[in-house]
Amino acid sequence: MLVPAHVIVLASEKGGSGKSTTALHIAVALLKAGQRVATVDLDGRQKTFTHYIENRRAWAERVQIQLELPTHYCVERAETSSIKANETTEVANFSAAVSAIERTHDFVVVDTPGNDTFLMRLAHSMADTLVTPINDSFLDFDVLATLDPINFAVTGESHYAEMVREARRQRRLFDGRSTEWIVVRNRLSVLGSRNKRLIGEGLTELAKRMGFRWLDGFAERAVYREFFPRGLTALDDLDKATLGRRPNNSHVTAREEVVTLLNALHLPLSENGKRHAAARAQWYSVIEEPLQVHEVIG
Ligand SMILES: Nc1ncnc2c1ncn2[C@@H]1O[C@H](COP(=O)(O)OP(=O)(O)OP(=O)(O)O)[C@@H](O)[C@H]1O
Ligand SMILES: [Mg+2]
Repeated sequence: MLVPAHVIVLASEKGGSGKSTTALHIAVALLKAGQRVATVDLDGRQKTFTHYIENRRAWAERVQIQLELPTHYCVERAETSSIKANETTEVANFSAAVSAIERTHDFVVVDTPGNDTFLMRLAHSMADTLVTPINDSFLDFDVLATLDPINFAVTGESHYAEMVREARRQRRLFDGRSTEWIVVRNRLSVLGSRNKRLIGEGLTELAKRMGFRWLDGFAERAVYREFFPRGLTALDDLDKATLGRRPNNSHVTAREEVVTLLNALHLPLSENGKRHAAARAQWYSVIEEPLQVHEVIG
């Protein structure tokens, strides 16, 4: 029996929270785990996710290495003078992309724009796993809830949180399935701080109220910014040929945090894919030199 793909949607109403960066890391992690992965960029104006994947393809060709690539679709933004006609065209293009991939892939990873569009709402109601990255500051916490200025207790839910609640309700009505909502803290300070603790406490309170769970995602690291022009992720080989520079400790730590995040997402990996990935890894370990530890510098 053909099982429809598991849909992972990266979304938040806040711009620059790490949606596209996290989307590519999740997609590449799944590819490396032997899964059949398709990706969809719903941010047809900015197209960061599409550019990230194009950069990956171009870098692999340029330095003559193998980099896993997903089947990618970009839903172009319709820009006629009629908002209604634009929505209809974009929804038709999105539906066509999903129909083309949902039965031939294990996962579809959807990146969305950081603002409230019709398409972005539709994506929310299709998500099996909704991942909302937030930068670790009160400014970004505002996308989920309002806080008391004295004691930082949660005083109310935001517009975006209400939208997610409604999208999840629609999803249950439509096919009886539920959306798991996971809030991922991004750009975490590597040092403990009062801010970090207070945001953790706020998220814990909100998680119970809104029915999400939260996870620590990626720390604030320059390597995440440097990956984009080459389309790389922290999971790619940490060698000079792949990175185009010598790896350092930050690459190694970034890789560990990506693996930890991926495990904590509890995604339903296909056993078949996992077996393929394990066999491939064993084969590579026979034919390749192991990572030269002395190349990892501080
Ligand atoms: N953990 C991190 N450490 C350092 N820089 C990061 C990290 N995560 C993301 N960035 C950088 O932050 C910026 C925003 O990230 P990204 O484009 O992934 O966010 P986004 O939510 O997709 O933004 P938009 O809303 O504009 O689509 C980029 O410059 C990215 O390289
Ligand atoms: Mg983006």
